[in-house]
Amino acid sequence: MRLHPITKLQHEHGNMWRVQVAIRNQLDLLEHGGVPDAVLLANAFYYMRKFPSAVHHPKEDLVFDRLVKIGAPVQDLVKRLHAQHVELYVLEEMLIELALQLPAGRSESRNRMLLLGRQYLATQAEHMQTEEQTVFPQARKHLRSRDWKAIREQAREIEDPMFDGKAPERFQYLYDYMMREVGDEELAAAHATVVPGRKPKSAPAAQARK
Ligand SMILES: [Fe+2]
Ligand SMILES: [Fe+2]
Repeated sequence: MRLHPITKLQHEHGNMWRVQVAIRNQLDLLEHGGVPDAVLLANAFYYMRKFPSAVHHPKEDLVFDRLVKIGAPVQDLVKRLHAQHVELYVLEEMLIELALQLPAGRSESRNRMLLLGRQYLATQAEHMQTEEQTVFPQARKHLRSRDWKAIREQAREIEDPMFDGKAPERFQYLYDYMMREVGDEELAAAHATVVPGRKPKSAPAAQARK
């Protein structure tokens, strides 16, 4: 089935939301004196560092650039979203390192993981909500079929940088591996609270994985 480029971005957000729920569960555990799964945390931040920058953000840029070019009222928002992409990369790099230091049990790395981890989740949530609630609807409203045709063509190159059709699939392996480590029910229950107004059973990630 050929998905609309915005629907594809929304499905990718579905996976990204679920990874954030897994991160939040581990941070909650850490905060309450439990022993978090450092490997899961490191993998989760690694996924968030690699997948969006290689696949998701370049495709968002195709949409954002066209919106700016036609003068849609999103100029300032798009500037802010670009800046947040970079801000998130920096936080993800730091959080991967902190996750790898967690098994050593030093209190300063635990505290820093909690502080930066919470900051990361808040920024990521605000960022994705802005896209889903404002910029994606603006794109659906203002862009025309010739824009979507060009976006689809360029997106194909981003998804298949070596023309082997395997770029998103490689990230999907890591995603599936992580999600096997996280209970589905726990994830579904937490999903509703992380993303206000979303129904856990219709989390888009479940559809995107098929
Ligand atoms: Fe984004
Ligand atoms: Fe996004």
